[in-house]
Amino acid sequence: MTNGPGRRAVVTGAAGFIGSHLCERLLADGWRVTGIDCFTDYYAREDKQSNLTAVAEEPAFDLLERDLLGDGWQQSMQHATAVFHLAAQAGVRDSFGETFGQYAGNNLVATQRVFEAADAANAARVVWSSSSSVYGDAEAHPCREGETPTLPRSPYGVTKRACEDLARVYRTRGLAITGLRYFTVYGPRQRPDMAMRRICEALESGASFPLFGDGSQSRDFTYVTDAVDATVRCAHAEDAAELYNVGGGEEATLAHVIATLERLAGRRLALDPHPTQRGDVRRTSADVSAARRDLGWTPVVPLEQGLAAELAWVRARRSTTAVSV
Ligand SMILES: NC(=O)c1ccc[n+]([C@@H]2O[C@H](COP(=O)([O-])OP(=O)(O)OC[C@H]3O[C@@H](n4cnc5c(N)ncnc54)[C@H](O)[C@@H]3O)[C@@H](O)[C@H]2O)c1
Repeated sequence: MTNGPGRRAVVTGAAGFIGSHLCERLLADGWRVTGIDCFTDYYAREDKQSNLTAVAEEPAFDLLERDLLGDGWQQSMQHATAVFHLAAQAGVRDSFGETFGQYAGNNLVATQRVFEAADAANAARVVWSSSSSVYGDAEAHPCREGETPTLPRSPYGVTKRACEDLARVYRTRGLAITGLRYFTVYGPRQRPDMAMRRICEALESGASFPLFGDGSQSRDFTYVTDAVDATVRCAHAEDAAELYNVGGGEEATLAHVIATLERLAGRRLALDPHPTQRGDVRRTSADVSAARRDLGWTPVVPLEQGLAAELAWVRARRSTTAVSV
């Protein structure tokens, strides 16, 4: 599949953190893009609207404000070159308790509806976002697709794991469908519930940062444009596999991230210690050799450069909006 006019993408979750970056990349590559998003209230609608600032006026972009649990969006998938399904209820900690219904609906049921619609509409390819959460607390690292057992430790991870089974059902029916297990994605517009964003906000406002655990938990952090690049490459690949790990390749502890951001900000972070939260895992790390081999993908943004970009974005945003803490 080559770039150029005539390529039409549908992006669910277009107003979200990763989805909005994906829309920008596709438009820059010459695709026409239909974004679908219902602006769930997980975080502020204004934030999601501002995520779309760069694409809103693009003639090749249109937005369907629809809930995937309702109707009125399925026809947009008719003969789409690629459907990128990123809409979901994200967040590990909130998936426990009464809020699980939102995870079951926006992840499991919505994903089944997207796969069903893409299949009925003869979409040429579906690329969707799974998560490193499917691995849980793996015993051996780095995690490998098809080798490391998937034992999610959170209800969120369970919904993503179940979506992988759903995807296999539709793949068996002949739909070209590939899931990407994103490992902690960060960068400008990161969701406000994610640790790096909250550390940047706390450094700028002087508020304290609630640190869950001792800071020694580590993550394979992935810069958002690297995650998007793997996603787009997947749509172009002739014979993409069922699943790929998408990890930035620079595993770091939360303590290291805090120290780096303190240095970049020129300030100390006030820490508010808390016990480890349920669902949190000790470590994530991705073997990305399959994505390198099949997609020709290599993550290129080093952690420090990515953190500097996120901090600069938080600063710029705070200077243009009245931020209260
Ligand atoms: N950010 C990460 O580090 C990370 C890691 C692993 C996997 N993922 C997955 O990547 C995807 C994007 O994550 P994100 O961080 O950009 O999240 P996000 O919350 O910023 O974006 C998700 C978007 O989906 C929309 N949405 C949710 N339910 C919907 C529905 N029923 N109908 C229409 N729109 C709906 C929301 O309004 C939101 O704008 C999600 O599937 C998430 O689970 C993210």
